[in-house]
Amino acid sequence: MEKKKKSSFSGSIGFVLSAAGSAVGVGNIWRFPYLAAKDGGGLFLAVYLVLVLTFGFVLLTTDVAIGRRTKEGALRAFGAINRKWKFLGYITFLVPALIMTYYSVIGGWVSRYIVAYLTNGGKEAAKDGYFTSFITSKVSPIVFMLIFLALTSFIVYRGVEKGIEKFSKIIMPGLIFMIIGISVFSLTLHYTDADGVTRTGLQGLSVYLLPNLDGLTWSRFLEILLDAMSQIFFSLSVSMGIMITYGSYVKKDVNLSRSLGQIEFFDTGVAFLAGLMIIPAVFVFSGTEGMASGPSLMFVSLPKVFDAMGAAGPFIGLIFFVMVAFAALTSCISIMETLVANCMEFFHTTRKKMSLILCAVYAGASAVICLGYNIFYFELSLPNGQTAQLLDVMDYISNSFLMPFISFLTCILVGWIIKPKWIIEEMESSGHTFGRKRLYAFMIRYITPVMMAVLFLQSAGFFSLV
Ligand code: PHE
Repeated sequence: MEKKKKSSFSGSIGFVLSAAGSAVGVGNIWRFPYLAAKDGGGLFLAVYLVLVLTFGFVLLTTDVAIGRRTKEGALRAFGAINRKWKFLGYITFLVPALIMTYYSVIGGWVSRYIVAYLTNGGKEAAKDGYFTSFITSKVSPIVFMLIFLALTSFIVYRGVEKGIEKFSKIIMPGLIFMIIGISVFSLTLHYTDADGVTRTGLQGLSVYLLPNLDGLTWSRFLEILLDAMSQIFFSLSVSMGIMITYGSYVKKDVNLSRSLGQIEFFDTGVAFLAGLMIIPAVFVFSGTEGMASGPSLMFVSLPKVFDAMGAAGPFIGLIFFVMVAFAALTSCISIMETLVANCMEFFHTTRKKMSLILCAVYAGASAVICLGYNIFYFELSLPNGQTAQLLDVMDYISNSFLMPFISFLTCILVGWIIKPKWIIEEMESSGHTFGRKRLYAFMIRYITPVMMAVLFLQSAGFFSLV
């Protein structure tokens, strides 16, 4: 079989911005601020930072270096490293395959909100019950999902350099610009509620930044640690083959160590800024009780906050949802790209054909997920105690169950079978030094596998630490 020229990023900036595009997504914008508010503000920030620089760094380095050294997507990379570990490629491939079923559904929700802000300044979106009545309706969530999915597939169809890289180079700087703008605005807010209590953005800032140690116990600290750890997985898009795929597009002369540092910085920076933008705003208008969890923070609480802002509200709301849509789009692209790239290799077919096929497959699969809020509605209790619908089940299997499991096995493979040297060689193959190599070798062998095993057992419900 003739071997086609492999796709690649044009250089390190293209790689850094595309990988940051994957990493920066709804996880940074809705999940990180919520966890920070729930887990003691500055305390969570400190724990998160330490974990990103240790675990996050190890997991990201491993994925990208595997990709660049084998020049394969996850499906074949593990088999190329060691024939007996081929199965790990298959399990890893399952994660984006599952996440893709629901990520464009969420992208569709965000797009619906953009339309709501364009048509009537978000007045409707701020009403009680708006979100629920939208997601439980039968047609509209599917229509918006299809638009989002079509856009994602189109960019992937265009290829790595002309599609993904070009798009990320425009979107990512724009996103930073918007997020800084809204954060600064958020700090200037103040509001006096019906009880005559005035709250200001700067007070909100202290809720976010100052460590809250009230009632801190050992088990509470463990809870914070596990929250931060699972957030890091999701946020850095590691252990799901995505960074392996992107790594395989990086040219051999790129200084990987520096690029990876930039990606970590980008992802953590955006998460931090998202907190700076959301926590003071929610605090000013709804107090600390307003920090709802999960999707309802973004789709229910924030529209009310924008509504309370007065004249600036519709504008800020619109920019906010446009920004979230961009962040979600670059993440969704990375998932679709991973699926397309792996399937192209596997079925020996072209990018264009595979993009079209997968777009059609996921149009069907995601429509089923949309119908999970009406026709296929159910309430399932998960091992971790949450009540789930179809979308949450997919999320649970991929993120809580498979990801720590994959990371654990990857650590065993790299730390004990092929040895950390295999990764370190790749990191230094461009002639640059890998500054954190001792930390890497130690973490991948001893600390990371233990932490991953704990995380896996905890989220699979085998035991409860908290
Ligand atoms: N990293 C993205 C975020 O923080 C989420 C994501 C998950 C992206 C899976 C791609 C794949 O939101």
